[in-house]
Amino acid sequence: MRSARPAGNVNRYYYKDMKYNVLLLGSGGREHALAWKIAQSPMLGDFYALPGNPGINAIAEGIEGKVSDFDLIRRTVVEKNIDMVVCGPEDPLVEGLKDFLKSCPDVKGDLLFVGPGKDGARLEGSKDFAKEFMARHGIPTAAYRSFTAEQRNEASAFLRSLRPPYVVKADGLAAGKGVIISQSLEEAEESLEHIFGGQFGSAGAKVVIEEYLDGVEVSFFVLTDGHGYLLLPEAKDYKRIWDGDKGLNTGGMGSVSPVPFCDGEFVEKVRSRIIEPTVKGLESENMDYRGFIFFGLMNCGGDPYVIEYNVRMGDPETESVMLRIDSDLLAHMAAAAGGDLSGQTIKVSRQAAVTAIVVSGGYPEKYGKGYPVSGLEALTDITVFHAGTAMKDGKLVTSGGRVLALSATGETIPDARDRVYSRVDTVSFDGSFHRGDIALDMINWPAGKR
Ligand code: AMP
Ligand code: GLY
Repeated sequence: MRSARPAGNVNRYYYKDMKYNVLLLGSGGREHALAWKIAQSPMLGDFYALPGNPGINAIAEGIEGKVSDFDLIRRTVVEKNIDMVVCGPEDPLVEGLKDFLKSCPDVKGDLLFVGPGKDGARLEGSKDFAKEFMARHGIPTAAYRSFTAEQRNEASAFLRSLRPPYVVKADGLAAGKGVIISQSLEEAEESLEHIFGGQFGSAGAKVVIEEYLDGVEVSFFVLTDGHGYLLLPEAKDYKRIWDGDKGLNTGGMGSVSPVPFCDGEFVEKVRSRIIEPTVKGLESENMDYRGFIFFGLMNCGGDPYVIEYNVRMGDPETESVMLRIDSDLLAHMAAAAGGDLSGQTIKVSRQAAVTAIVVSGGYPEKYGKGYPVSGLEALTDITVFHAGTAMKDGKLVTSGGRVLALSATGETIPDARDRVYSRVDTVSFDGSFHRGDIALDMINWPAGKR
């Protein structure tokens, strides 16, 4: 920061003339969307991304390396005089990056860090911890029990006491693959066998078995300073590879915001039953949580239940959500990380946003890399976020399964959809593929209501 910040409390007037040197961690579409939003702030000083990607590095200076290299992050923070670290993915948070940086004598004491410490990151890092946290604070979620490998027989007995479909989860981080939903008891038993047998490594040392929640999923996001919070726009993501939500699970094929069933009444239930008890619970357990919380919710007949917590923003939800925030996210993040959001109000656009992801043929299974990407220069009327791209010999090529996120806003969801889909064929690379039905179910839900 170019001017000193008063110890303890901070307020909005103080922030006004400040410039922040920001280091953004991560390399996906989510991080590009965050970078795009951060870059619009008048409060941005120097901007770095570690490692970033070709899209991000057009607006932030890229630092080569891995987000798991904490010492590289420390050196970057010190050498580049970073004021704020924004952590995109969950792994560094779960591994204790914030605690590490705060313990380094050469890192300044007032470094702002957007994301929880190791304690708060358990909300995502351990499903068992998250479930017990929800039980302690009366937060609605599916009934569950957790078991270690020694309790294999009890786990089977518990499965037999439930009705299908059966939900079996590895306790720890399993790159989004640790949840197995089966229609038959035999399949559920097999999943137990696989998880305890080491399919997900140490993430499967414990297993969570829970009741199946029948409903429609929605993602809610808040930015908290540990006491209060700002509610970001909600979104829905589309996880399966094929239209109609068929086929294999992916990292996300598209998203839409707003979600029409999230009317005033539903949002009020989410705030009072889920968000507020969560933030209060974190505070009462002295976790000093400063950063984003992502609530993966199931709307079961009008009542929200928590499926999971994440301690970061969602991907590809962020690509739609950022398009709908009209206020200064960098100011909000500075206030949250500084411990006082009370002077901040978030301004959410009334427009709708839709994102379609263009993926490599074969994804989420085997796919090729290094295909030249063409057509991007023509896409000036929608927003393109890079997810899996790289520069090779001065040319943009594919480097991942999910390659580009195409996002647009419109007066209504159909308008935003039309804008994205009218342009989706403009970009191309060998074997490119996208879903054609992103947000279609939300247009008809429920009969035109928004
Ligand atoms: P998670 O990794 O916990 O988010 O679970 C991945 C996906 O599995 C969720 O997005 C849901 O689609 C589904 N899922 C997880 N838990 C349940 C549940 N109790 N009932 C129904 N679906 C679930
Ligand atoms: N879109 C779901 C996630 O980011 O985990």
